[in-house]
Amino acid sequence: MSNRKIIVLDTTLRDGEQVPGAKLNVQQKLEVAQQLKRLNVDIIEAGFPASSLGDFQAVQQIVKSVGDSVSITALARAVKNDIDSVYESIKLAQNPLIHIVLGTSNVHVEKKFNRSKDAILQMGVDAVKYAKTLLPNVQYSTEDASRSDFEYLWSTIEAVVKAGATMINVPDTVGYAVPEEFGDLIRRINERLKNLNDKVILSVHCHNDLGMATANTLSAVRNGADKVECTINGLGERAGNASLEEVVMGIKVRENFYNCRTDIETKELLRSSKLVSLLTGLDVQVNKAITGDNAFAHSSGIHQDGLLKDKNVYEIMSPEDIGGDSMELILTARSGRHAFKNAVEKMGFEPGEGDDFEQLFQQFLALADSKKEVYDHDVFYLLTKHRDIPA
Ligand code: KIV
Ligand code: ZN
Repeated sequence: MSNRKIIVLDTTLRDGEQVPGAKLNVQQKLEVAQQLKRLNVDIIEAGFPASSLGDFQAVQQIVKSVGDSVSITALARAVKNDIDSVYESIKLAQNPLIHIVLGTSNVHVEKKFNRSKDAILQMGVDAVKYAKTLLPNVQYSTEDASRSDFEYLWSTIEAVVKAGATMINVPDTVGYAVPEEFGDLIRRINERLKNLNDKVILSVHCHNDLGMATANTLSAVRNGADKVECTINGLGERAGNASLEEVVMGIKVRENFYNCRTDIETKELLRSSKLVSLLTGLDVQVNKAITGDNAFAHSSGIHQDGLLKDKNVYEIMSPEDIGGDSMELILTARSGRHAFKNAVEKMGFEPGEGDDFEQLFQQFLALADSKKEVYDHDVFYLLTKHRDIPA
């Protein structure tokens, strides 16, 4: 197992909860937090406490519930009131972390804030200095980093690190980056950061607007990011955030390529996905990588035949690795004799041999041609329709 550990921050309860319709009540948030603890995430971002009293109290409850064993953070804009709210809501956690966000791109500085670059940089430095009077651990997010002018981005990072920031988070806020470019950005920041202060943790936070959040996150890991921010099922603002299950399994399945590991309990991934889907009411797309219903379902005859000979022929990971049952062979008109025979035997029947089996298989194909999928009860019907079923 690799020595280089990647820290996993889950922000399902903050960025994930920003999804329209995904609002959770306190009890539901506590259920998610407990599951994130079972999943062994390193840090839970529990909310945005300055946004409402309800959010503030929910963060406090999460701290009470899991804050003795998981590091807890919450989000603040670079203003004193927000930082105070975060501090008051997380201060009883064993390892609390204040998270400050402030934009670095021209469009943020000029349009969102209508201030000068120097003024925004100073605002960030003041926020970090203030947060450091409250807690030792402060993360600074350079919002919209991927669309920022590199030298200004670096000046900001340098200044907030000198002011005491212990983690620098580089967000691709609007999902604009592409993997090669984002990896390059992280490599350049990492080279300078290691010279400035090699204790500071470099983190990434990617959005999925172009469907590249996971790829960008993994590219960042390969180029020196020590920490990844993700959500269960990829929930999050607009098209969502990098999906925790995809990033974690990407690192695990391709450990030799990435040369690192996470401490995530991967057998809890499927349960986490199902719980978050159930509580938010947001379905997981059936073909979603890792946790979609079809992620381990095989329907083509060629694939089914190969899998029955050796699972490695068509599986790069086992469903058991993520807490699922063994592979699923879906019977359709494209299934072959091998898969059909396997299904018959699994139901405890003798498939017969030679012409007898061939006749049965042809009946199965005729049935399969008239349906999308053939279920166990259909096979049962085929096998029993000419027999007397004991009363
Ligand atoms: O997308 C973003 O930039 C954020 C920050 C608060 C990290 O969510
Ligand atoms: Zn975000």
